[in-house]
Amino acid sequence: MPGRGRAEASPVVVSVGGSVLLTGEDDAPYLGRLAELLSRLGRAGPLVVTTGGGRTAREYIRLGAALGLTSVEQDELAIDVTRLHARLLAGRIGLPTASHPPTSVREAVEALRHASPVVLGGTEPGHTTDAVAALIAVRVRAARVVNATDVDGLYDADPGRHPEARRLEHVGWPELLQLLHRASSGEPGQNFPFDRLGAELLARAAIPLAIVAGRDLPNLEKAIAGAAFHGTTIGPEAR
Ligand code: UTP
Repeated sequence: MPGRGRAEASPVVVSVGGSVLLTGEDDAPYLGRLAELLSRLGRAGPLVVTTGGGRTAREYIRLGAALGLTSVEQDELAIDVTRLHARLLAGRIGLPTASHPPTSVREAVEALRHASPVVLGGTEPGHTTDAVAALIAVRVRAARVVNATDVDGLYDADPGRHPEARRLEHVGWPELLQLLHRASSGEPGQNFPFDRLGAELLARAAIPLAIVAGRDLPNLEKAIAGAAFHGTTIGPEAR
């Protein structure tokens, strides 16, 4: 279209699991390299990154439950942990990323107008940071969401318990939603392949989802860039 100038790249949203950020093994060097990658890709195109709470969040949820806190209060404790992880990553990335992460989807979308990457944790009780990633993706019409997790894709059974489980290269949205309905019961701190609310939002908006091992940074870069990667793609068949 004449007069529109160069088309702007569609944003990409990455949901990094807490289980990837803090494993207890080589966390500082990994976080340093992850920050470097996200900073570079964020300069090349609009990028939003959500950080999960992992086992630290689950520990606080467990303590909160043992002390009789409500599930909303347990979620709020866990959200604070996800925000700590966002601050770790954002602090390492430095400017232009805000060191105190946005606390809502609206703030994150606004922040993306001025800076990339935007890094944030959770927003409100009742879902996980995967859903935050999906909500933002829908708002900014993202090209894709990348879920950087502690497995290298989606399997047809739990690979921890079933060694014969096969990794699925590609899954359609109806198939994924069925898997999630079976796997999730919606309690705080549950570990799903991807948040059910998030998956439903992405399915409705027809935004593809990539599931990749977050510690394999060259592969994570391919998934963010939209190149062929090792993992699982959810959505329309890859072209
Ligand atoms: P995570 O996004 O870390 O979920 O949120 P997870 O499934 O444990 O993922 P990993 O292990 O990091 O990959 C942890 C918990 O924080 C609360 C929920 O209780 C969630 O289960 N939370 C998080 C919210 O209530 N709202 C949010 O927006 C984000």
